[in-house]
Amino acid sequence: MALSVVELDELHQQLDLWREQGLSIGFVPTMGGLHEGHCSLMRQAQSLCDRLVVSIFVNPTQFAPHEDLEDYPRDAQGDHNKSEAAGADLVWLAQHQDIYPPNWSTTIVPQGVGLGLETDHRPHFFTGVATVVARLLTLVRPDVAVFGEKDYQQLLVVRQLNDDLRLGAKIVGGRLIRDGDGLALSSRNVYLGPEAREQARTVPKALQLMCEAYASGERDPSTLNALGEVTLSDQGLSIDYCRIVSSTNLEAPMDLLDDSPQSWRALIAARCHGIRLLDNCALDDPPWR
Ligand code: PAF
Repeated sequence: MALSVVELDELHQQLDLWREQGLSIGFVPTMGGLHEGHCSLMRQAQSLCDRLVVSIFVNPTQFAPHEDLEDYPRDAQGDHNKSEAAGADLVWLAQHQDIYPPNWSTTIVPQGVGLGLETDHRPHFFTGVATVVARLLTLVRPDVAVFGEKDYQQLLVVRQLNDDLRLGAKIVGGRLIRDGDGLALSSRNVYLGPEAREQARTVPKALQLMCEAYASGERDPSTLNALGEVTLSDQGLSIDYCRIVSSTNLEAPMDLLDDSPQSWRALIAARCHGIRLLDNCALDDPPWR
């Protein structure tokens, strides 16, 4: 049975108890709306620690005023059950006043890997994510925390944040999980009707074509990017970005790509029927193999 905790004091009492017993703490922060992608992060985290904490907090500071904060899927009981089944020992339903107390006035603005790509389209986003993740990691002080590779830039931002502020957690990337039709799992997929869903499948298809072209010897990043873009726009998707970047620092290649496909990642953000879809893969790890 996973404990369900709301109060911060109760969370800290339980964490202190586990630490006194010499147990290591794993952590998967979420915004709820849990799906198999989150559950796979939890299973991975559980294999790396003695006790697993999952937090659920829909963080308002990572949404712009026009975005879907109010409509974001919320199902506390369902999320608790899924977390428990995936190995959580404690589910923390974090309260707004515990994350952002009334006199809270600190904001973290990531630079480096936090600039460009997402920030070009959602300027508020990583400031909100970095601030809440710093807060969550400080409150839980896990030994290990798992963040999904689905949000690849976010993973790198969190790693940087953890190193820069010496938050002391080991940050582990969790594998992106796809549905049978190739679409990356996302809490927002529930908004896609059948027609939109069919169109959304173009996103993994574009990644697939980029990987296949690389595997066939194409090394010009502009040609590969253009291939992805044409695939997306031909199916009517509106592209925020479709780009091959360095897996380690997200910089655009200066030259032709080399022969180490793990060093390069194709990243896509595109809008389909008003839903923003994010997807990515290493060049040797296409959606379909
Ligand atoms: O990836 C998410 O679900 C969120 O951005 C996170 C890391 C839980 C911060 O709110």
